[in-house]
Amino acid sequence: MAESKNWTPESWRSRPIVQMPDYPDVESLQRVEDRLRNYPPLVFAGEARSLKRTLADASEGRGFLLQGGDCAESFADFHPNTIRDTFRILLQMAVVLTFGGSMPVVKVGRMAGQFAKPRSAPTEMVNGVELPSYRGDMINGAEATLAARLPDPERLVQAYNQAAATLNLLRAFSQGGYANLQSVHQWNLDFLADTPQAHRYNDLANRIDEALSFMAACGVTPELVTQMRETDFYTSHEALHLNYEQALTRVDSTTGDWYDCSAHMLWIGDRTRQLDGAHVEFLRGVGNPLGVKAGPSMPPDDLLRLCDILNPDNEPGRLTVIARMGADQVEAKLPPLVRAIKAEGRKVLWSCDPMHGNTEKVSSGYKTRDFERILAEVKGFFAVHAAEGTYAGGVHFELTGQNVTECIGGAVAVTEDTLGDRYETACDPRLNADQSLELAFLLAGQLRAERDKVRAHAHAQALAAK
Ligand code: PEP
Ligand code: CO
Repeated sequence: MAESKNWTPESWRSRPIVQMPDYPDVESLQRVEDRLRNYPPLVFAGEARSLKRTLADASEGRGFLLQGGDCAESFADFHPNTIRDTFRILLQMAVVLTFGGSMPVVKVGRMAGQFAKPRSAPTEMVNGVELPSYRGDMINGAEATLAARLPDPERLVQAYNQAAATLNLLRAFSQGGYANLQSVHQWNLDFLADTPQAHRYNDLANRIDEALSFMAACGVTPELVTQMRETDFYTSHEALHLNYEQALTRVDSTTGDWYDCSAHMLWIGDRTRQLDGAHVEFLRGVGNPLGVKAGPSMPPDDLLRLCDILNPDNEPGRLTVIARMGADQVEAKLPPLVRAIKAEGRKVLWSCDPMHGNTEKVSSGYKTRDFERILAEVKGFFAVHAAEGTYAGGVHFELTGQNVTECIGGAVAVTEDTLGDRYETACDPRLNADQSLELAFLLAGQLRAERDKVRAHAHAQALAAK
């Protein structure tokens, strides 16, 4: 491809860039970048390639992507229990989906690097004073003072260190025995003990236990089968702060290709997907699997151009389109994109982010999301793919394993009045553990229906080929 020829890790610097802070001291930013360039990579290129392979399978109907975590990770909330609980709820959701859909679930955390946020305005008014907007802990502080809001390059080093420690714990959790299927009961979170979701989950865990006992009697045990005692868990974040991303971009010695070693998967936000912009330019040159958010303002032609630029070889698994249309718009705005991609034979994995198109502000001032609308967008997403004959291959959630009250609704209903009880997010409202599990059970039903459709189609094709 002619376009990929002129790429360097810094070619983004000559493109127009949006959503980047103005550092008061550019030289100290440069010094931090030089330091980061000499730090160890956080992930290996080979791991990014294995994620790409599993996403390729998912794009072809043989798997399902579960991506989730905080809207923004925070320095103040950094604690092993928080990481454990997010890991645990994702593991529980994955078990529910794997069991329900009888297909592999690709687990990708919005973790270990999700520290930079795009904002709708560069400044905000706080108590009559205009302050620079908070842009995530990697850039500035959330406190409403001018000093906290000034971008500080040292925060990039702190973000790197927190990402490294988070990833270290996630690797231990996923490979050190915690994710062993025999522990399926222990993943239940303590505060969920007596909710309807917990009972449902326990029933499912009992069935898995039974299946494991049967398999053990046949001689198949976690000691013999790695997949039963370990799990693959990948990391991802929005590649917003390009100075940070560039500093962690390295040549893979095996292939000679460039990889952004800050995470396995990187995505481009809905506000930074300009075709000639810096973010698209940077990401086209790295070999990682990529995501691109598609909101209601995405023209089908732009999506096709993004495929040209980001996936010129039409490689399956390379590009995930994360649609975030809003419950009201998904059935109108998604079909034109799906049709364009299908008509042009582009290989993408379709994923649904039902969070970012459904944010509202209630009269008490809290930013929230209604569980019913989140669910409605997920259902709309599946319905569109069913109608278009394409595969709904994944979901992207803002969630936490904590018992927060940030989104309204769910079986143990959070109401407008109780939002203030435990509203803890550094940015957007997240599903709590109970709401996340409820959503997983609802999704499992959709997946089962989809799986039956894919199998019936394959069967019909096999018959026709005879
Ligand atoms: C996000 O994922 O936190 C985000 C800002 O999403 P979007 O780019 O879709 O608005
Ligand atoms: Co968000």
